[in-house]
This record gives sequence, structure tokens and C-alpha cells, in this order.
Amino acid sequence: MQAVQALPRKTIILAISIVTIFIVLFRFYGDVPVEYYRNYAPGEAIVPVTTNNDRPQPGYFKAQPEWDWSVPKHAASMDGYARTPRNRDIVVLTASDGGGHNSAIPNVLDRVLDDRDKYCAKHGYTSLWLNTSRYDIGDAHRTWSKIPAVAEAFHLQPNAEWVWLIDTDIIMMTPDYDLVDEILSPAALKRGLMRDTPILDGQLKKNPTHINTPKDFRVEEIDILITQDHQSVNTGSTFFRRSAFTRWLLEMMTDYTMLMGQEHGGAEQDALKHLMLEHQLVRNHVGIYPQRKFNAYVQGGDNMGYRDGDLLVHFAGCWVGGKCQEWFEEFWGKKGHKDVWKPLTGSA
Ligand SMILES: *[C@@H]1O[C@H](CO)[C@@H](O)[C@H](O)[C@H]1NC(C)=O
Repeated sequence: MQAVQALPRKTIILAISIVTIFIVLFRFYGDVPVEYYRNYAPGEAIVPVTTNNDRPQPGYFKAQPEWDWSVPKHAASMDGYARTPRNRDIVVLTASDGGGHNSAIPNVLDRVLDDRDKYCAKHGYTSLWLNTSRYDIGDAHRTWSKIPAVAEAFHLQPNAEWVWLIDTDIIMMTPDYDLVDEILSPAALKRGLMRDTPILDGQLKKNPTHINTPKDFRVEEIDILITQDHQSVNTGSTFFRRSAFTRWLLEMMTDYTMLMGQEHGGAEQDALKHLMLEHQLVRNHVGIYPQRKFNAYVQGGDNMGYRDGDLLVHFAGCWVGGKCQEWFEEFWGKKGHKDVWKPLTGSA
């Protein structure tokens, strides 16, 4: 006691300060796993993302800061990279204003957003809704507004590594389905992407393109994931990876003179199809999965139509027969079912 009292006050204060600094330092460094520094850039977003869904953008989308989303160094080369994403860096993006033919289904936007929020909460993914009415896309067809939404998702979520753009008319059917193990990990890509498969432009028999996906691909280069139905690629369910290639592709798709300003029945879908058919470079970076992997349709044979265990069902084209509401309610009631309902018929 007396020894302590004998020490000058300044020394005691200094000693306590040093100990405190060390405690604080070790406390914070201890919280961060080593892999964080090895694999990820600093700058984690810790505040929840604020969207601007109730305000229109102040001008043409390409002039907005959201369009200029950033790409980190490791993703800035065309050589690409391969790694397994963290669950929280996967953004499930609903780009919609809730209108269009989907409005035939009562409360469709609220219901599917709730469905997606729960799916994301279960796995630790990030669910995001962006109001497509707020983008100024000139005179182009409204479905083009999905593209500025993808850019805004990357902008709002600086750590997002994959943005999964899914249409509103989709129900998640298998809540346990793991996007990383089944779709996004390098092993899943190697296992599942279709090699040397015709890229379609209408039905294969009527209009063979004689252009196939690569016989072999480098998994590091795969930046976009998509599926084809019986006619063409379908952008109703598409994955985009944060990379220089993805930024370049979005720029090319939205080229107003060549693509976006032209009259294309399939809008952004036709733009992507066109670029894939025309450019080997694009084919090297766009992976095609079998359709039912993440874009099973409400109707169709074993390659196309929803079967037990599929991740989701997409009501593509349901408005043609006016069946949207009926089919939606039927599938909504079967979400997460474990019984035999739509088994493989083995006929395809
Ligand atoms: C979507 O954006 C438009 C245009 O900015 C706005 O008028 C509308 O209210 C927004 N919708 C919602 C549900 O916030």
C-alpha cells in the first residue's frame, strides 16, 4: 500500500491508461476472424441499408451515383476469382413496383417479400426490395428498370458479392435450399453448369443457332448465372456477381443506340441473349444452369416444370390463360411441403 502511495500520481494514471488501451485493442481484434482480413476488404456496413423507394431518381439512371457502383481490386480483372461467398453477402433482390400483370394476384408484392424475408432470415442472406418506378429509363420498356435496380443493390450493399434478381411472380418452395452449396460455390459451378449446350434463340428445331456454351469454362470467370427455357435465356431469375465484367455487361445491355432504345420484344432478356450469341467473351462469363435449378416454371415437362424439391416456382406466362391467381394460391399453400406432390415422371 505504502509503495503504491509513494508512486507519483502521473505514473499510476499512465499505467492504467496503457492497460486500458491494450484491453480495448485485444477486445476488438479478438472479435474479427483471421479470414476476414485474408479474404475481405475492410469497410463492413454496420448500419442497416436505407432505400429510397418512395422517391424518384432525379434524372436518367446512368447519370446517378447508384449506377457507378464499385468493384474491389480482386474482382477488377477479367481473369476473375473463385471463392465461396459468405451468406450475408448474397442479396436476394426483388425489383418491382408491384404492378403489371402480377397485380392479378391479391397483395402479391407484400406476400412474396414476406416469403423472401423469411427465406433470407433462415440462411442469413440479405433480402432487398427496390421500387422500379423510381428509375428514369427514358422511353424504354419498363422491364428494363430491373437493370438499374441491380446496380443500386450493389451500390446500397457495399459488401454484396452476389445479387440474385428474381421476379415478383416467384414463390420460394424449399426453404431449406442452400444457395451457396447448390449454386454459388466454385464446386457447385463446376458440377452444375451446362457445358457445350446450345444457346437458344427460339425453339432449337426451328431455329438452331449452332452456338453452344463453352465445352470447358474457368470457374473464376463465371460472373452471371442464368437458365434457359425452351426458347431463350430467361432473366426472371438471374445471379450477378460484383465484378468488372458484370459492370461492363450492364453497360453494354443498356446501350441505348444499339440495344435498350431499340424495339425488342424481350427487352433486357433479348439484350443479354444477343450479347451471348454474338460474343465468345460473354459466353465465357455467363454460366447456364439447368432450368429447374432456380427457375422452374409452373407448367412444363421434367426439364422445365416445377417438381418436388425444386428451390422455387416461377409463374412465367401465367397471364396468358388468366390462371395467375389460381396457380399462385395452389403453390402458396404447398410452400415447404414434404409430401409427394409433383414427382418426376421420368418421361422427359
Ligand atoms: C415507387 O416509386 C414511385 C416513383 O418514385 C412512387 O410514386 C411510388 O409511391 C413508390 N411506391 C412505393 C410503394 O413506395
